Amino acid sequence: MTGAQAANTVCLAAARHRVLAQVGWDVEEAGLVGAPPIRVVVNGERHATVDRSLRLLGLGASAVEAVTTDGNGAIDLEALAGVLASRGTGPTIVCLQAGNVNTGAIDPLRASCEIAHDHGAWVHVDGAFGLWAAASPTTRHLVEGLERADSWGTDGHKWLNVPYDAGYAFCAHPDAHAAAMAYTAAYLVGREAASLRSPGDYVPESSRRARGMATWAAIRQLGRSGVADLVYRCCALARRFASRLASVDGIEVGNDVVLNQVLVRFGGDDEETDRVVEAVQRSGECWMGSTTWQGRRYMRISVSSWRTTEHDVDRAVDAIVVASRS
Ligand SMILES: Cc1ncc(COP(=O)(O)O)c(C=O)c1O
Repeated sequence: MTGAQAANTVCLAAARHRVLAQVGWDVEEAGLVGAPPIRVVVNGERHATVDRSLRLLGLGASAVEAVTTDGNGAIDLEALAGVLASRGTGPTIVCLQAGNVNTGAIDPLRASCEIAHDHGAWVHVDGAFGLWAAASPTTRHLVEGLERADSWGTDGHKWLNVPYDAGYAFCAHPDAHAAAMAYTAAYLVGREAASLRSPGDYVPESSRRARGMATWAAIRQLGRSGVADLVYRCCALARRFASRLASVDGIEVGNDVVLNQVLVRFGGDDEETDRVVEAVQRSGECWMGSTTWQGRRYMRISVSSWRTTEHDVDRAVDAIVVASRS
């Protein structure tokens, strides 16, 4: 798939199929007009594209119920249980997150899945980059219980460092996945053909290039330990950014650095933060974007390149400190 958004869309289409089929509604046949309403319970700090995925599936903003999170953006379990219990049972999708785009926060997956499944919900995990925490023994505990979910979306073009256009949809229920996505035509060999798994039955496109090749090559070259090392190194470098910057007067780190994301604020002030970000960008030494996290402006650092070294981090920190004093 093109990316995590497309992967999430495919998984949520499978979810939509399953939760409606469970109440006797065939959405592929009957569409959504007149269908039983679907509740979509989401992490309040979800990625903005989740809403677009839902919209494409006919699940508009009024279907979405946001659950409060902790200060780092991980879903609050009591709040999740409360939201789910606030209405009777019915078709429900819970959309969790592994890796908040600003903070790297990962929802407590095991407990969230248990709560959601107790309510008969389908659990999807948007793990665009955070799912890769599972690849390293040093971060695996952060996604503990992820196998309990029903579907997962992630990307190769973020942490695996393959070129753009590499999203992956994983679904624990291949029948629901294919029911949502499969199509056939007289001139094609589809899943009806005995013993063949037709990849085209699990994606939204009919024509596409062999995207999987880049992912296959990267994993083949890196191996299990190479991927683990890549994840470990990026997280270690993010911590290096955070500890070096936090030790400078007037610079504060705004998130709990659990993965590879670091939020940095300057002079305790939005305008000053934007000024420093712009000055760093203009310096040409490195490029960092900015973001708004829980109402405040931050510089957003995301360490995800296999080429970044400690030396690069130190040079970037020096440039940031110089910009903050300019
Ligand atoms: C958590 C999360 N979900 C979804 C996306 C969308 O991914 P893509 O741009 O690959 O579609 C992103 C992108 O940053 C993300 O961080």
